[in-house]
Amino acid sequence: MAFVIAVAQQKGGAGKSTLAANLAVALGEAGPVALLDTDPQQSLARWHAIRVAQGHAPLRFDTPAGWRIGSALDGLRREKGFVVLDTPPQVDADAARALRAADLVLVPLQPSLPDLWASEAMVAMAEKEKRPWRYVLNRMPPHSRVAEVVLEELARRKSPVLDARLGNRTAFATAFATGQGVIEAQPRSAAAAEVRALASSILALRGQ
Ligand SMILES: Nc1ncnc2c1ncn2[C@@H]1O[C@H](COP(=O)(O)OP(=O)(O)OP(=O)(O)O)[C@@H](O)[C@H]1O
Ligand SMILES: [Mg+2]
Repeated sequence: MAFVIAVAQQKGGAGKSTLAANLAVALGEAGPVALLDTDPQQSLARWHAIRVAQGHAPLRFDTPAGWRIGSALDGLRREKGFVVLDTPPQVDADAARALRAADLVLVPLQPSLPDLWASEAMVAMAEKEKRPWRYVLNRMPPHSRVAEVVLEELARRKSPVLDARLGNRTAFATAFATGQGVIEAQPRSAAAAEVRALASSILALRGQ
């Protein structure tokens, strides 16, 4: 059975598509991956089109919407490996479909209080659907009082947060612009090391 990972966060620009693309590429080292873009903005579809146009290995890729999200996932779930789902920045029926089908919901979170507040509706939906979920801290600055405040608040709430975090690194945008993940475009970068650590922690969660 494939392990289905939905990347979801109501806040626009939180890093959903960046995380989904990089995770799909990194998990590809551990098994077959299908990547689904369920966001009408189609950022990942455009990323994948650039990937193909620039001659990088295509991924198994689809852009289901509405009721097709459930049926696409029903088929893929019976296969081996991983399904990574990018979702729109809204809490609606499509988000519910994606969450309901997920073995793990990843909520990218930039370390600011408004971003944390904006994540609450998606977290509530994951909990309502009884889906395991984790925050993934994204664009983490090396030193920031605001980030510390957010981390303290997450600890106070006992929110599940992955230890693996992504820093604020131009490598992510650069790789995205060439249809690649950072482990392909800049394999020895700090960003690539972060993505590998993230993929390892997800493999560990799948094993539980
Ligand atoms: N760790 C990071 N370091 C630097 N830039 C980042 C990082 N993560 C994301 N970004 C940049 O932030 C912007 C938004 O990222 P992305 O498109 O992945 O967010 P999103 O949550 O999918 O947005 P939307 O809600 O519009 O779908 C992009 O320009 C992306 O390159
Ligand atoms: Mg997006």
